[in-house]
Amino acid sequence: MAEPARPNDPPSPSSRASSGATTPPDVLALRDLAERAARAAADLVRGGRPDTVEVAATKSSAVDVVTQMDLAAERALRTLLARERPDDGVLGEEGGLEPGTSGVTWVLDPIDGTVNYLYGIPAYAVSVAAVAGPPEPGAWTLLAGCVHAVADGRTWTAARGHGAHLDGAALRVEDARPLSESLCGTGFGYLEARRRDQARVLLEVLPRVRDIRRIGSAAMDLCMVASGQLDLYYERGLNPWDLAAAQLVVQEAGGLVTGLRGRPAATAMTVAGPAGTVPELVALLEQLGADADGPPAPGSLD
Ligand code: IPD
Ligand code: CA
Repeated sequence: MAEPARPNDPPSPSSRASSGATTPPDVLALRDLAERAARAAADLVRGGRPDTVEVAATKSSAVDVVTQMDLAAERALRTLLARERPDDGVLGEEGGLEPGTSGVTWVLDPIDGTVNYLYGIPAYAVSVAAVAGPPEPGAWTLLAGCVHAVADGRTWTAARGHGAHLDGAALRVEDARPLSESLCGTGFGYLEARRRDQARVLLEVLPRVRDIRRIGSAAMDLCMVASGQLDLYYERGLNPWDLAAAQLVVQEAGGLVTGLRGRPAATAMTVAGPAGTVPELVALLEQLGADADGPPAPGSLD
């Protein structure tokens, strides 16, 4: 049964009763649908992985690959969601934006960690989120989401105001610890110039943390902050589909997900972790100019 709306619930994206009152979206129903869709797409991905996966196309660069399975899994997600909620919009990594009329948009990453999928490294996930408002990081209201790890079946879910769960168990982000004792996940973009900048930033971050992990799926990195396998995570260049579901998982687990210089988490920069540690990493990344391309202004590292 739907739980009552809370004062900070988002405005209704859709139904307006004849009285003129708005009906808030049933975020628990959206979460359950997100999970069902993610599991269905993951079944397809798991069952259909040939011994040798071929690259179907490349996107931003020669190393930014798409497989037939990315395309098939996104088609399956779109078909299921259209059947269940035909008025909603859909933004997917492979198929772009199909606007809806309800005010809810599904944000889909059919395989987050495509390079891992290509190589048979078992760290790739299906990510499905429902958002209200523009489907853009910072502008959206995250309603519900699911990140389902295809290889081992770990399933992170969240619904706005109802907490985050891993395989049904409630999540609480680990307590803050100093940056120097924090295990920090990160990731890299697909463009050479961006990677040079990311390497420059990494050179300064690595000596200041417990260690770095580059797992290869941003959605899983974020979810692992929520469930304690990572203490912190930062990355420049995330797309909405990398971020949507997993951002809500971290936030609903009591963690902080933010950008730099007081901005929300977005493509420019996403930093996640315990509210007590994130500011230390944010300050370092700001000093390094990690949210802009090119070296920081002279003197800013003194
Ligand atoms: C990528 C992964 C990777 C991150 C990249 C993403 P994809 O998504 O999440 O970990 O570093 O920024 O683009 O291409 O595997 O869907
Ligand atoms: Ca992705």
